[in-house]
Amino acid sequence: MIGRADCEALDAGDPLRAIAGRFAPGEAGTLYFDANSVGAMATDVPDRVDRHLAEWRNLRRRGWSESTWLDAPRRLGGKLAPLLGAAPDEVVVCDTTSINLFKALAAALALRPGRRRVVSQAGTFPTDLYVVQGLKTLRDDIDLHLVPDGEAIEAALDDQTAVAYLSQVDYRTARRLDIRRLTAAAHARGALTVWDLSHGAGAVPADLDASGADFAVGCGYKYLCGGPGAPAYVFIARRHHEAVRPVLAGWMGHASPFTFSTDYVPGPGLARFLVGTPSVIANAVMEAALDIWAGVDPAKVFAKHAALGDLLIRLAQESAGAQAIEVGSPLDAGERGGFVALRHPGGAAVVAALADAGVVCSFRPPDSIRFGLSALYHRYVDMWDAIERLRRILGEGAWRAEKYEKTKAI
Ligand SMILES: Cc1ncc(COP(=O)(O)O)c(C=O)c1O
Repeated sequence: MIGRADCEALDAGDPLRAIAGRFAPGEAGTLYFDANSVGAMATDVPDRVDRHLAEWRNLRRRGWSESTWLDAPRRLGGKLAPLLGAAPDEVVVCDTTSINLFKALAAALALRPGRRRVVSQAGTFPTDLYVVQGLKTLRDDIDLHLVPDGEAIEAALDDQTAVAYLSQVDYRTARRLDIRRLTAAAHARGALTVWDLSHGAGAVPADLDASGADFAVGCGYKYLCGGPGAPAYVFIARRHHEAVRPVLAGWMGHASPFTFSTDYVPGPGLARFLVGTPSVIANAVMEAALDIWAGVDPAKVFAKHAALGDLLIRLAQESAGAQAIEVGSPLDAGERGGFVALRHPGGAAVVAALADAGVVCSFRPPDSIRFGLSALYHRYVDMWDAIERLRRILGEGAWRAEKYEKTKAI
């Protein structure tokens, strides 16, 4: 049995333990396991925002030329790139993940004229599928081929496939796909890849360049800690930059936006994937988080993340006993993404009871209780304390209380 003291010893030897101090702790006594939803706030966010508010107050429109507002999408992309295994000029921070999925998928399809098939997973995050459904109103020849699980992807790739459009990590189970293997399989069929990294980036490696990935997108507000509704990001491998023609062409992607030419001329490299005016305050918040990431070795982050997940799973298994709790995520950290899912038939009620006991996690139907983990601010002892609270709630049956009966997924 693992004791609390064992976890304290792990914390004492953790090379990243000092980083937690760069995040606001939240409510006293509350344990937050929602890095898969809204990661913690960097402590210097208020200062960064104040500085940008002062610029807004004093510079007004001069902020566009005298401050760093306009460069933010590319500057922030450069700071994020090492964590994704990409070069600084291959990532821009902008828009939302849904919008970037649309931009990336449309661009990838255009690079494979004459091919109609898009291979994706039936259980991918719904917005990814809505994007294809929306794109089909412009291109009704798209043949969306959905596979039931990751195992079936390779067999579905054929010489009509334009794009393998995949989520690195399943949002209900945290099962992780092998970007390198599936990208090679897609390329062998002449297809391109578009990866949604939302439940992996900041937690597990993406190794985009080494994997040969073509396009990738993901959320800024989850493990990256960019704040609720943070700008998302887009990766495009450099070899595609000059060939890519944006479908959502906007003035910020123009080669010279301030010449106000009526003809669209794409900007250099990834600049052409920008659309409209960057959100200055949101970028300032995101940059506070990215500056923390820039100071850490991604390999240490990924190693600690795997160890936290392994520990949580072992603790859950040790205390599962007669509690009807099962591990819903892969046991092997190499096959897992950013969170650990535990399964319980009363999942939604258990999540609500956990919240009342000071453990913030999330539920996804039918029975998945998701613990989002952060190598930057979680301690090993947090895993122990959370499972101890869970054990108590299940043991005492607190989750069966009437007030939890109508709890829904949020
Ligand atoms: C895997 C995945 N993709 C896309 C999204 C949607 O991102 P956005 O709301 O930024 O469009 C989410 C949101 O949680 C997600 O989990």
